[in-house]
Amino acid sequence: MTILVVARGNMDDAAWVERLRHELPGREIVVQGEPFDRRAVHYAVAWKHPPGAFAGLPNLTAIFSLGAGVEHLLMDPRLPDVPVLRVVDGDLTARMSEYVVLHALRILRQHELLVRQQRERIWLDDDRQPAARDVRVGVMGLGVLGADAAAKLRTMGFDVAGWSRTAKVLPGVACFAGAEGLTPFLSRTDILVCLLPLTPDTAGIIDRSLLGRLAKDGRAGGAHLVNAGRGGLQVEADILAALEDGTLASATLDVFETEPLPADSPLWGHPRVTVTPHNAAMSSPHAIAGLIARQIRRHEAGEPFEHLVDRSRGY
Ligand code: NAP
Ligand code: GLV
Repeated sequence: MTILVVARGNMDDAAWVERLRHELPGREIVVQGEPFDRRAVHYAVAWKHPPGAFAGLPNLTAIFSLGAGVEHLLMDPRLPDVPVLRVVDGDLTARMSEYVVLHALRILRQHELLVRQQRERIWLDDDRQPAARDVRVGVMGLGVLGADAAAKLRTMGFDVAGWSRTAKVLPGVACFAGAEGLTPFLSRTDILVCLLPLTPDTAGIIDRSLLGRLAKDGRAGGAHLVNAGRGGLQVEADILAALEDGTLASATLDVFETEPLPADSPLWGHPRVTVTPHNAAMSSPHAIAGLIARQIRRHEAGEPFEHLVDRSRGY
């Protein structure tokens, strides 16, 4: 029952192998690139694997994504037809909500302006500060991460709405769903937070048309975008154009069309763009290796896997 680990990009094989060995003592854990018996591999643990890495493993039983998102797996045309599991974990969820609340508060409290004022030694204490209850935050994606972020934004006092594929009821959150719910949702949104998965239906959804439907009459000094979902959800040329023509007041981006963000991207130096390096909610090997070990033990005890991905939906 060997476990094959293929962790690329901002993850590192060695840290995952060490934690998995700790959680599953006695198991053989191998990494791609070293010789191993392909017939012995029953589980694969993956982040941004090279396409085809899991083909030719005749006894593969399940593939674990090292993140909540799974498009990195599903885009592999040679992905074996076995269950795919994703991360659903309180540690990761709490990290994402910290990110969302941080940036919503940064926008609410005009933090960039205060930093500039300090740099220029300007003491300007005026009444431009709206209350959180007067600022409307719209969360796209009301899944595990979106629902938690929406609840925490509510706790901070924001006026919160959310949008999802299927209808939801969440305490204190105005819920919109489906294509017909999108325009009414956007038109009551000052700060748009995107926590959607990247699927064929959501690719490029943050474009000129969507940004143009955000509220223009809000108390947050214009419309703001916070995208911590995936870079493939956004059209960066449209975001830059929207910043230029005043459709958007600011953009806070954790994810990009190309990662790492190329050094010549105009997003890096834009005065109203905040760039973070896809670290809104990192998968901690300490937290997530335990989750994987639990699923393996459940499966081997004859219980069903949890947190299964619906491959036909793409998330
Ligand atoms: P999830 O529980 O699967 O929730 C996804 C949500 O998106 C659901 O509410 C779903 O609607 C909605 N949705 C999917 N397709 C839609 C569509 N076509 N139209 C409208 N709504 C749609 O996922 P999650 O755990 O919250 O994670 C969300 C995403 O966050 C991940 O896929 C990943 O890309 C991203 N992420 C980023 C980081 C980071 O560090 N930047 C970290 C973790 C995750 P239903 O509820 O109706 O199904
Ligand atoms: C990170 O991006 C994740 O999908 O968990």
